[in-house]
Amino acid sequence: MRKKLIAGNWKMNTGYKESEKLAGDILKGIGKENYKRSDILLCPPFTSLGIVKKVIEGSGIKLGAQNLYYENDGAYTGEISASMLKSIGCEYVIIGHSERRKFLHENDRMVNQKIHKALEYKLKPILCVGESKEEREDEIFEGVVDNQITSALSGVSIDNMQNIVIAYEPVWAIGTGLHATPKQISSMHGFIGEVIERLYNAEIADDIMILYGGSVNDENCKEIFNTKRVDGALVGGASIKPEIFVKIAEEAGRAIE
Ligand code: PGA
Repeated sequence: MRKKLIAGNWKMNTGYKESEKLAGDILKGIGKENYKRSDILLCPPFTSLGIVKKVIEGSGIKLGAQNLYYENDGAYTGEISASMLKSIGCEYVIIGHSERRKFLHENDRMVNQKIHKALEYKLKPILCVGESKEEREDEIFEGVVDNQITSALSGVSIDNMQNIVIAYEPVWAIGTGLHATPKQISSMHGFIGEVIERLYNAEIADDIMILYGGSVNDENCKEIFNTKRVDGALVGGASIKPEIFVKIAEEAGRAIE
C-alpha cells in the first residue's frame, strides 16, 4: 500500500493566534516518525497561511489553501491568485469543494479554470467531487461524479495528471457525522478510477490519489483507511481538534504497514 495523504481542511475557522497554536499542537503531536509514514497537509484560511507556514517550516508537514481565483492578477477585489499561494509556500490547493459550489455558486466551468490555473503555477489541486443526498437516493450518483470529473479535467494533459488529487466527498456525509460505508467508498473510488481510465489510461487511473472526505474522525478512520482504493482523507471538523487529527494521522501511518 502506498503512503496516504491526510489533509486538514480548517474551513472558515481559526484566527491568527488560534491557527498558530493549532499548527503547533499538530506538529508536536504527530512526531517525526509519522511524517515519514503518511503525508500531512494543513489547509488553514488564507489569513493564517503565513503563520502556519512559519510554524511547520522544515517539519515535512505540507501547506495548502482552500481555494484560489483563476485570473493572474488585477481588479478582482477579495480574490487570491495562484501566484500569491505559491509565494506564501502552498503546495496544494483544494478546488471545487461542495460548500463553495453551494454557497459561492461555483460551477463546473469555474472549477475547470481553477484547476488549470493551479497546474500552471505548479500547485497540486485537490479536486472535490461528490453527490447530494437526493442524487444518492435517485441512484444517479455515478453520473453526477462522472460529469464533475470530466468537466473539471477538461483540457488537462496526461503529464499534469500526476499532480492531481481527487477527493470523493459525498455532500450528505460532510459535517453530518454520517460517513459513507466502506462499500460505498470503495465502489465510488473504483468508479472514479474507471472514469480516469476512460479519460486518460489505465496507468494514470492506477496512479491517481483518491481521498475520502465526509465526517472522518478518530473512530471511523481505521476502517476507512483499510478500505480498497482509499489513498487518504480530507478531514474537516476533526482537523481543528489537534488530538483527533493526530490520531487520524497515526492511523494512516499504520494502514500502510
Ligand atoms: P467534515 O468535512 O470532515 O467536517 O465532514 C470534510 C470536508 O468538507 O472536507
